[in-house]
Amino acid sequence: MPAPVVQTIQDHILLESRIGGYEAADARRDAMAAAYQSVADLIGTRPRNIAFTENATASFSLALSSLPFARGDVILTTRNDYASSQIQLLSLRARLGVRIIRAPDRSAGGVDVQAMAELIQRHRVRLVCVTQIPTNSGLVQDVQAIGSVCRDAEVTYLVDACQSIGQLPLNVAELGCDFLSASARKYLRGPRGVGFLYVSDRVLDQGLAPLFIDMRGADWIGEDRYRAVADARRFENWEFAWALVLATGEAARYAMAVGMEAISQRVTNLGQRVREQLASIDQVRVLDRGSQLCGIVSATIEGSDPGELVTALRSRGINTSAQTREYALLDYDDKRVTGALRISPHYYNTEEEIDQAVSAIRELLQQQR
Ligand SMILES: Cc1ncc(COP(=O)(O)O)c(C=O)c1O
Repeated sequence: MPAPVVQTIQDHILLESRIGGYEAADARRDAMAAAYQSVADLIGTRPRNIAFTENATASFSLALSSLPFARGDVILTTRNDYASSQIQLLSLRARLGVRIIRAPDRSAGGVDVQAMAELIQRHRVRLVCVTQIPTNSGLVQDVQAIGSVCRDAEVTYLVDACQSIGQLPLNVAELGCDFLSASARKYLRGPRGVGFLYVSDRVLDQGLAPLFIDMRGADWIGEDRYRAVADARRFENWEFAWALVLATGEAARYAMAVGMEAISQRVTNLGQRVREQLASIDQVRVLDRGSQLCGIVSATIEGSDPGELVTALRSRGINTSAQTREYALLDYDDKRVTGALRISPHYYNTEEEIDQAVSAIRELLQQQR
């Protein structure tokens, strides 16, 4: 997290400890409104379309729970959607009898948008959900083209932007999505424990609301009646870690001040530098495929366990992560790997740091021989 984001959290926690939690929330009401505004600005919408949540997973399941699925309804997704989303869809299938169809990938990588359009024509698709950047590779799905298909067919469209928020410029109107789920803690450089959900006017106007709506999302207006609030706060919980909400607003402002175009260019270039250098090591196979790639780099290294490599790199002050088959069952099976090392440079990384990281991998592999 950048210093102003950390400072925002500390200031609010201190205020709570000095005057009390409810009192601090009241005192910082304008700052809270500014947090909604900043997150809205980041994705090209209005504060009324933003709900703060605990994380991207919570955002995704809140959105999912708002749709009145009937037995046999189809949820169309991809082979690269996030593991937790796949599990939630399977759970929904077991509970409600929905059908899950995963659109095929193109041979170059990335979902085949034309095939998605045809599937929408042939089936009773109630929801399309797509992870824009999967956790397991550098692929960027063409979420805008998919959005255009969904708009033509008037199908509800949910984009998981957990890895793309703060990494790529995003505009929900251009994406044509109904929901967009995100966490603060990743490329956006916000804190853990907070995320948000964009909810379109289309969804709000249809009266959709999460299954387990609470007293923030709705008013209890009669013994047997409640009324959902008009805006996306319908998707929020009554209780909030307000320090984290304020910090997410600060992280959004910070990202916009750096400039989303500049961030995206830099992150993509650094990712490409990692890929090119890794590819020059004999034992390494870079796994990223697709016509557009981002800052996430995934690679398999012959004879080397990703988990052990992560630990060895960490002891040299280099942070990477290890992915196992369960993180990306379909993608990793397609690629015939059981896991991968993931390297995700941020815009603040220098070229020298990238070179050092790859040299460290090279050295560790030599030591293993
Ligand atoms: C693509 C994608 N979606 C969703 C999530 C879930 O984010 P969170 O753990 O913050 O809920 C992740 C986390 O890694 C992710 O990579």
